Amino acid sequence: MKVFVAGATGAMGRQLVPRLVSAGHEVHGMTRTTAKRDLLRGLGAVPVVADALDPEQVAEAVGRAQPEVVVHQLTAIGPLDLRHFDRSFHLTNRLRTEGTDHLLSASQAAGVGRFVAQSFFAAYDRTGGPVKSEDDAFGTSPPKEMRETVEAIRHVEEAVLTAHWTEGIVLRYGGFYGPGTSIAPDGEQTEAVRAGKFPVVGDGAGVWSFIHIGDAADATVAAVERGSRGVYNVVDDDPAPVSVWLPELAAQLGARKPRRVPRFVGRVFTGETGVVMMTELRGASNAKAKRELGWTPAHPSWRQGLAG
Ligand SMILES: NC(=O)c1ccc[n+]([C@@H]2O[C@H](COP(=O)([O-])OP(=O)(O)OC[C@H]3O[C@@H](n4cnc5c(N)ncnc54)[C@H](OP(=O)(O)O)[C@@H]3O)[C@@H](O)[C@H]2O)c1
Repeated sequence: MKVFVAGATGAMGRQLVPRLVSAGHEVHGMTRTTAKRDLLRGLGAVPVVADALDPEQVAEAVGRAQPEVVVHQLTAIGPLDLRHFDRSFHLTNRLRTEGTDHLLSASQAAGVGRFVAQSFFAAYDRTGGPVKSEDDAFGTSPPKEMRETVEAIRHVEEAVLTAHWTEGIVLRYGGFYGPGTSIAPDGEQTEAVRAGKFPVVGDGAGVWSFIHIGDAADATVAAVERGSRGVYNVVDDDPAPVSVWLPELAAQLGARKPRRVPRFVGRVFTGETGVVMMTELRGASNAKAKRELGWTPAHPSWRQGLAG
């Protein structure tokens, strides 16, 4: 198939494009930056230069490629400030709202048969059991500082799932780890744990789901080839509370055991969002993705090596 990847040069794109190519697909990879064309050729893709926030450029890029499938992996997550979460995600939120709309319009005009978009597990509602399936409530009660970000995630999901002219597929990825991610050996979060700047807040009962970036890319290839309209959690088999995974990550890095701080101290340093992520988050189940995509993660648990 002819597959158009928006976000082809990012942490996910660099894993996804070569997998699509070796599965026999013709990949057109989008970047804003002319200088990254050689990187894309090296990954096996036809480079396409366009700004995702410019509707005309997107229409022309997709129109010229005439793909059968479009994959939306656009983000722009800079250094994360949990206290001002929405501010950190401002550009990513624009890519998830305006960027999604431009890509969908261009795809509809080009008669794209399947549209696969990136979402994130951490917006499941924080009530009921610790591990959520795709049918559970999602994104209805975000912490105040995360409202715009969760609204943008809901926008991608709704726009893609209600695009009845195509097979709209949403992948709720777990937290990425592995090459090029913020939990790679040189990643931002890994550095914070090494420096003792990532304490366990409160009881650390917030449950996180992780996924190795290579496994996330494998699931994305499966969705491109045989996904059906709907949502899939793309996470590993082992959702775990912060009080378990954070000390384990520190141990894997040879760092000191993370400090524990009470909620009110955590709130000063990480804001309400940080406290919620540490104490209330819910994890996700991958049962549907395994069953319906015929996908199994090669790294079933983050315990095998979160730090790479
Ligand atoms: N589920 C998760 O845990 C999750 C999800 C997403 C990201 N992350 C993490 O966030 C970190 C960095 O991510 P990042 O957001 O900087 O992404 P990234 O990995 O650099 O990828 C962003 C992609 O979006 C493209 N892009 C951004 N703005 C664009 C625009 N206006 N027009 C066209 N293309 C555009 C970039 O293309 P060019 O730069 O080539 O133009 C690039 O291909 C990584 O550590 C990653 O692991 C985690």
